[in-house]
Amino acid sequence: MQTTAELREGLLSFFESRGHLRRPSASLIPPAWDRSTLFTTAGMQPLMPYFLGREQPPAPLLTTTQKTFRTQDIDEVGLDGHHLTFFEMLGNFSFGQYFKEGAIAYATEFVQEQMQLDWDRIWVTVHAGDPDLGLGPDEAAIELWEKIGMPRERVTLLPTSENFWSVGGPGPCGPDSELFWDWGETFGCRQPDCAPGCTRCDRFLEFWNLVFMEYELQADGSLTPLPHQNVDTGMGLERAASVLQNVRSVYETDGYQAIMDWIASESGVAYGDSDAATKAHRILADHGRGMTFLVGDGVTPSNEGRGYVLRRIIRRAVQQARTIGLDDL
Ligand code: GLY
Repeated sequence: MQTTAELREGLLSFFESRGHLRRPSASLIPPAWDRSTLFTTAGMQPLMPYFLGREQPPAPLLTTTQKTFRTQDIDEVGLDGHHLTFFEMLGNFSFGQYFKEGAIAYATEFVQEQMQLDWDRIWVTVHAGDPDLGLGPDEAAIELWEKIGMPRERVTLLPTSENFWSVGGPGPCGPDSELFWDWGETFGCRQPDCAPGCTRCDRFLEFWNLVFMEYELQADGSLTPLPHQNVDTGMGLERAASVLQNVRSVYETDGYQAIMDWIASESGVAYGDSDAATKAHRILADHGRGMTFLVGDGVTPSNEGRGYVLRRIIRRAVQQARTIGLDDL
């Protein structure tokens, strides 16, 4: 497994061979009943009625790769090697079947045997607990990680802001446990407490989130138990590909490099030729993917809502194209 395509197919077929039904991605436009976000932002979002117990899932275990679009970082795209608007979220989902133990065991098997990552460079985080939510530290998750061979010193406890997942408002939610890749001390701040969640450096990259979805967040901020204990996981395909391919930026992975090679051949300006060229390539690659999938799902440019977002990324892409001489676009 080396390419982005192999990673996508590898994860879906791994979970399929372990009893999960593979389902196609839902649209980037959420259905009418889902008013939580403008666009689909996570693999679990189209599956919310199943987690809430309001509809029967097509199978008790599912696996998907979900097209996702996040609007909050549009202006950050291009300035660094990791911000994206459009990306794919790979996931495995259990509706009342396996819970923490199964999710941790599958993730461990996948990273060790399929991705063949160096286990010594994987760290994990677990929810530190939150008195406001009436939750203590997730001791069960800590114990399960230790049992499967994760040394306690590579298990970091983080607060609700980092390790409790919800769709951004009322709905299914739960504490989560995240897998991080350690790029190595040379990329770190070298402080003794440097660990996942470190705000001083970007030594650690989160690439897989295991959500133990057992609560429903109510409008008043309280938690009520869901009918079942469920699992929702989200692996950012492009980030995980950067780990697999040992490149620090998603834009250096094979999927983006193919687009950037095309941009270079059309413009005569290569990625990395200058800071301006790097920025232009990143914006064209990200926004080009985003606008293609938005239009494919029926969004048209306009002055409001989804159409405004599409118009904004088209304008940003055209501006950047001009900076590298692509005036015909
Ligand atoms: N639903 C888990 C995630 O998007 O990270």
